[in-house]
Amino acid sequence: MLASLVVAFAALRAGMRLRQARLGRARRDPAQRARHLRLARPAVWLVLLGFAGGPVSMLWLRSERPFGTAHAVAGCLAAALFVAAAVLGRRLESGRGRPVGAHALLGVLAMLAAALAAVAGFVLLP
Ligand code: HEM
Repeated sequence: MLASLVVAFAALRAGMRLRQARLGRARRDPAQRARHLRLARPAVWLVLLGFAGGPVSMLWLRSERPFGTAHAVAGCLAAALFVAAAVLGRRLESGRGRPVGAHALLGVLAMLAAALAAVAGFVLLP
């Protein structure tokens, strides 16, 4: 899960550079878009894979009720926000509209929710 968050953070940083260029605060480097896409796609899949592992581990490894902790609530929120960011990202990629602002906002919120989930998960560590 930690690895997926590192990749997601790198995708966010690449996205933020795109944003700076779009707002005219930095020079646009064409390689930055490719870098963002290269990082963002696997990041979303890795986050979702890690998310799916949570309830599986609670049920089968710990024999505890899944979705009953603050960690699970924050994790669900983060997963939903990552999916929403990815859906708008796909639309941007394929040229179906220009929801850049909403995509960036969802990406930042997804990262914040994931950080919250990580902090809330510390109490569950053995
Ligand atoms: C499948 C996943 C994703 C796809 C396909 C995708 C695609 C894109 C595309 C095409 C752009 C516009 C690039 C341009 O201006 O030419 C963009 C911008 C951006 N993306 Fe993503 N993205 C994805 C996931 C994410 C995630 C997970 C985050 C954050 C963690 C993120 C954060 C950003 C930000 C901050 C921008 C800049 C928006 C702006 O200009 O205001 N993206 N993305």
